[in-house]
This record gives sequence, structure tokens and C-alpha cells, in this order.
Amino acid sequence: MMTRAFSPAADRNKDPILRILSKELRSDETVLEIGSGTGQHACYFARKIPGITWQPTELKDNLAALQSVIAEEHVENVLDPFELDVNSSAWPDIDADICYTCNTFHIVGIESIESMFKGIKQNLASNGKFFVYGPFSINGQHTSQGNARFDQQLRSSNPHSSIQDLHAVDSIATELGFFTCRYTEMPANNLFVTWEW
Ligand SMILES: C[S@@+](CC[C@H](N)C(=O)[O-])C[C@H]1O[C@@H](n2cnc3c(N)ncnc32)[C@H](O)[C@@H]1O
Repeated sequence: MMTRAFSPAADRNKDPILRILSKELRSDETVLEIGSGTGQHACYFARKIPGITWQPTELKDNLAALQSVIAEEHVENVLDPFELDVNSSAWPDIDADICYTCNTFHIVGIESIESMFKGIKQNLASNGKFFVYGPFSINGQHTSQGNARFDQQLRSSNPHSSIQDLHAVDSIATELGFFTCRYTEMPANNLFVTWEW
């Protein structure tokens, strides 16, 4: 039996994120999640907002572990996880209105972020929303000393990884036809950012 991975961060941020999703999501909407990780958010949010349909996705190497968690949890409105690498895979054939991703922007790098926005525009239903949770800098300034230190750690561990600047990401999003970048400050110096298209 595979040992199930557990993300303490996903456990800590699930309720603050749920409070926003509960207000933002209509009860019949379908959410495509990019980089579902341990599947904790998929199961938690789908149980708490039962009308929605949640499509988890992961990179090929992480997919089997995620599929096994989702199968064990038996949450009726969570679909079987799909492979999705925003840079290369075919996107799921799904009529999703919403895209959600948590703590991926500072991992994947700006080119993959651009791929996410392009993939969303090309593959999801029109007039949707993209929800992004994670750390951002604003106008080149870190929002805390902790984020500045975290950014250094990210940069030294992987050349693609760093805390992204909200306005730099918003420029890419705007070029690709997204609008209305708004954000809510979240615990531990994270933001919950919404783009629409
Ligand atoms: C820090 S983890 C966050 C996982 C989960 N969202 C959470 O909040 O616990 C970053 C996730 O991004 C995924 N990821 C990395 N590169 C990716 C890519 N190119 N396309 C899609 N997902 C990617 C990883 O597999 C990993 O699950």
C-alpha cells in the first residue's frame, strides 16, 4: 500500500480558501484544478460545496498517487484525475467554467504560467474565472520578510522557481485577453487572485 502524502500547507490554507470559493462559485460549476498535489483541496472543497464538479490534474509522475487518493476518498463530485502538464499535455476534454491552482505559480516559472493562461483560454468555456492562490510580490516588492527569504530559497533550489510579481503576471494575462485582476490578502502573506476571461 502506498503511503499517502500530506501537505501541511494545503491543510492550513483550506478553510481561508473555502470561504472565498463558497462565495465565488455557483453551485453548478465545474472546476479544473492544475497541480492538485495530494488531492486534499479537491476532496475538501468538493465535499463542502457539493453542487460543483471538481476535476483534479497532475503531472504524469504524480498522477498515480493522486488517483489512488481520489479513488479511496470516494467523493461523488470529484472526477478521476487527469494528466496535465501545462507545457505539454493535451488538456482534459472538459466543459469547465473555472480554473483553480494553489501554490504552483512560484514553482513552475513564468513560461509555464503563460502556458497556463494560454491553455485556459483555448480549452475552457468562455466567460470563466481563474483563481490562483499563493505568494506574490507587488510592484517588485515582497509583501513580507518571510516571502523574501522564501524567494531566495526557491531561486537557489530551482532556476525556474521564484515568487512572481503580480503585475508582471497580470501583464501576461492582459495580453492574452484576461481582465479584472483582483485579489484578497490571505494568511501567511499569500494572495487569492482572480482573473476573468
Ligand atoms: C507546491 S505543489 C502544490 C500542490 C497543491 N496544489 C497544494 O496546494 O498542495 C506544486 C504542484 O505543481 C505541479 N506542477 C509542477 N509543474 C507543473 C506543470 N508544468 N504543469 C502542471 N502542474 C505542475 C506539481 O506536480 C505539484 O503538484
